[in-house]
This record gives sequence, C-alpha cells and structure tokens, in this order.
Amino acid sequence: MPHLLSLIREDVTNVMDHDPAAKSRLEVLLCYAGLHAVWFYRMNHWLWNHGLFLLARWLSEVARWLTGIEIHPGARIGRRLFIDHGMGVVIGETSVIGDDVTLYQGVTLGGTGKEHGKRHPTLEDNVVVGGGAKILGNIIVGKNCRIGAGSVVLRNVPENSTVVGVPGHIVFREGKRVVITDPKQINDPLSEALASVASEVNKLRERVQHLEGTENVTEPVPESLQRVMDDLDYQI
Ligand SMILES: CC(C)(COP(=O)(O)OP(=O)(O)OC[C@H]1O[C@@H](n2cnc3c(N)ncnc32)[C@H](O)[C@@H]1OP(=O)(O)O)[C@@H](O)C(=O)NCCC(=O)NCCS
Repeated sequence: MPHLLSLIREDVTNVMDHDPAAKSRLEVLLCYAGLHAVWFYRMNHWLWNHGLFLLARWLSEVARWLTGIEIHPGARIGRRLFIDHGMGVVIGETSVIGDDVTLYQGVTLGGTGKEHGKRHPTLEDNVVVGGGAKILGNIIVGKNCRIGAGSVVLRNVPENSTVVGVPGHIVFREGKRVVITDPKQINDPLSEALASVASEVNKLRERVQHLEGTENVTEPVPESLQRVMDDLDYQI
C-alpha cells in the first residue's frame, strides 16, 4: 500500500515503453482498464492480507463491474503486470504471477475444479499469454514463455517455450522447434508422421548397409538434413 503511487507510476511507464498505441501518460492513466484493475487489486490485496476479506472481495467485484476484469484479492501478483484490453480476464485466488507479465483479453488463470488448496497456475517472470487462453490447475508456466491465443494449457511449461493449441503443446523451446514423440503428450499427426518416416529411413539404411556389407562405415549426414536436425528439439 505505501508504495501504491510509485507502483502506479511504474505501471504507466511500463505501458508507455511497451504499447505503441499509448500516446501520452495521461491517456494511459485514464484509458487502460487493465491498469485500473491492477491498481484496484493492489488495494484489495492489502485489505485481504489485513483480514478484511469481505471488503476486499466486494471491492474486487466493484472493480470487475468497472473494468470487466476479475482479480481475486488473494492472488499474488508481481510488478508491472500489463493486462491489455482486458475484458473477460479472470485471475483465481491462488494464482501467482511474476514480474513483467502480459495478459490479453479473455485470459483465465483458473482451477480445474478437481484440486484444493493451491489450485490456480503460477506464471513466472516475463510470460505473455495470448487472447482467450485458458491456463488451468496448479501448474507452472516458466519464465519467458509465450502462450498462444486460444490455447488451453493443462501441464507445466518449461521456461523459454511457446505453447499453442487445445490442449496446449510446446511448439518452440529455447528457440528450437519441438517435435512431440511421447505418446503421453497430445497426438500430433505431423509429429507422428515425421517420427515414423525417420524410423523407416533408419531401418532402410541398416538394410542397405547390411546388403553392402558396410555396417561399420559411418556415412556423413547430408548438409540439408543436418540443417533440419539442428533446428529441431525432440521432446521425449
Ligand atoms: C503463440 C504465438 C506467440 C506464436 O508466435 P510465433 O513465435 O511468431 O510463432 P509462429 O507464428 O511462427 O507459429 C508457430 C506455429 O504455431 C502455430 N500457431 C501460432 N499461434 C497459434 C495459436 N494461437 N493457436 C494455434 N496455433 C498457433 C502457427 O500456425 C505455427 O504452426 P506451423 O509452423 O505448423 O505453421 C502467437 O501466434 C500468438 O498467439 N500470440 C498471441 C497474440 C495475441 O493474443 N494478441 C492479442 C492482441 S489484442
């Protein structure tokens, strides 16, 4: 609470630095409902931590009427959270959000309805969650991850990953494309096709080497294939 004004100043500067649509500090102060919701939250979280649960909940409801964004006062949120556009965002009671996180409209940090206690997600620093994405359950989304618009994420996501789809699956990790080979992961027809072609090629190579009597000779991998392999990160 004592830092509320300095946090407000920091939030406005953060939007000026990151949103090309923001023309002036006054515009950001007046027109960004996502920031208004976060400022309400900061006050409500203080009330919550001081045992004023009903007042905190009621004011978070007022904030929802005004901004269309529902942040439970019990959630733990770091510095410079930017909720862009914002309408329809829901942040559940046991959510934890690190610093410099961006959420677009319609994002839900929710429970699955099957857990008790800590039942909402943890987003580490610098995560960006696209419009309409749902992140459900007590899972951790690692630092610098990007969650695609419309994704439904139900599992932990390692840091520096990009996740898309329903259910969400990793398409990039540490800057490399991911091919899913674990059948416990989601079924991905392209990954399955690639994995079975690779296995057939290996079998054929072994047969040819057997026929030629060259089993002990190591063939160099063609440059074009090597380039593709370098860009892939097999998820096993
Ligand atoms: C997920 C995201 C960050 C990926 O961006 P990127 O790193 O540039 O990756 P690409 O666009 O190259 O996409 C990688 C693959 O994922 C797919 N993909 C990207 N976003 C997707 C999404 N939201 N849902 C499903 N698939 C998606 C692409 O089609 C591509 O697949 P392909 O290689 O088989 O063709 C981006 O697409 C996204 O959804 N950003 C959210 C933006 C948003 O919500 N804006 C709201 C503004 S109001």
